[in-house]
Amino acid sequence: MMPFSVREFEALARDRLPRYAYDFIAGGADDEVTVRANEQAFARLRLLPRVLRGQPGRDLGTTLFGAGITMPVLLSPTAFHRLADPAGEQATARAAAKAGTVLIASMASTVPIGDIATAGGADLVLWFQLYIQPDQAVTDALVKRAEDAGCRALVVTVDSPVLGWRQRDHHNEFHDLPAGLYCENMRGLAGDSGVRSIAMVPELSWEHIDRLRQTTELPIVLKGLMHPADAVTAVEHGVSGLLVSNHGGRQLDTAVAAIDAVADVAAAVDIPVLMDGGVRRGTDVVKALALGAHAVGIGRPVLWGLAARGEEGVLDVLELLRGELDRALALTGCASVRQVTSDLVREVRC
Ligand code: FNR
Repeated sequence: MMPFSVREFEALARDRLPRYAYDFIAGGADDEVTVRANEQAFARLRLLPRVLRGQPGRDLGTTLFGAGITMPVLLSPTAFHRLADPAGEQATARAAAKAGTVLIASMASTVPIGDIATAGGADLVLWFQLYIQPDQAVTDALVKRAEDAGCRALVVTVDSPVLGWRQRDHHNEFHDLPAGLYCENMRGLAGDSGVRSIAMVPELSWEHIDRLRQTTELPIVLKGLMHPADAVTAVEHGVSGLLVSNHGGRQLDTAVAAIDAVADVAAAVDIPVLMDGGVRRGTDVVKALALGAHAVGIGRPVLWGLAARGEEGVLDVLELLRGELDRALALTGCASVRQVTSDLVREVRC
């Protein structure tokens, strides 16, 4: 069966993946209230279209930190792509390059960042997601690896001072990677490059961001920030962008849906605000843009595409979303992503 939506890709992936891998990807923290809320919140937002503003075509392109991308849909960082397909992050990188959008490679990738960059080639806009490590020398070495690979931004995940309680993984006893898979970016830096070689830092603070700011020239994007007061502080600390996110509901359960945090954060700062969590349709992208996001990220949909059909599946997911976004723009009377305004969205009670 040819899938015609992200949801149908998920069904295909579920059939193909071993149970522990499907659960690792689909699951979240505690009761998974926030996993569900991320998607449900988009359903509560409805579009109020404009008519008779016809244009022969739509312009989906935008720019981020000087790089042009063909649509405001990024690949959010997700760990362990080789759980979904043997070619792992290399397949994902090729698909992102073909689609002409940003791949944010996870620090917990199962292919080293340099090989991800090589697979994507010169066309790929590659960013590196970083968990700041307790040992500064390890953090510095990771930043160096990202810089050497040609990454154009660092996405520092700040919503994980400790790991969320992921019950599905406990039930499946999924605590280590299968034989032969490693957190390749940790090679030679910490432990055996297994899952536990990446540490969470409970004392993570703005001082860590200040220090990182002094270590690299790359733009720093904070990922996992939800509160507008933190957004203001981030700007004071020289941060270049924000990715509003609750980690796909995998960290703090009952956190508000990511889309519900976007408008206040976007109103508080002048730097690019991105969001991820629950984006499954082109109409979701329009809603996020209307609420002030510059672009959105997708996490699980990329892995559903990868598990279902490898590189081609990831590209199919991205192209489905591109087609949906294009249609949604046409149907709301927008000729470009810049024309999406806040009056196009209404919140309804469900
Ligand atoms: C993630 N996410 C994540 N975030 C991060 O900063 N570093 C990481 O290594 C990972 N790994 C990861 C693995 C898996 C399997 C998932 C599903 C998610 C979170 C990710 O970047 C993003 O915030 C969410 O996935 C967005 O929500 P959706 O699109 O999955 O609903």
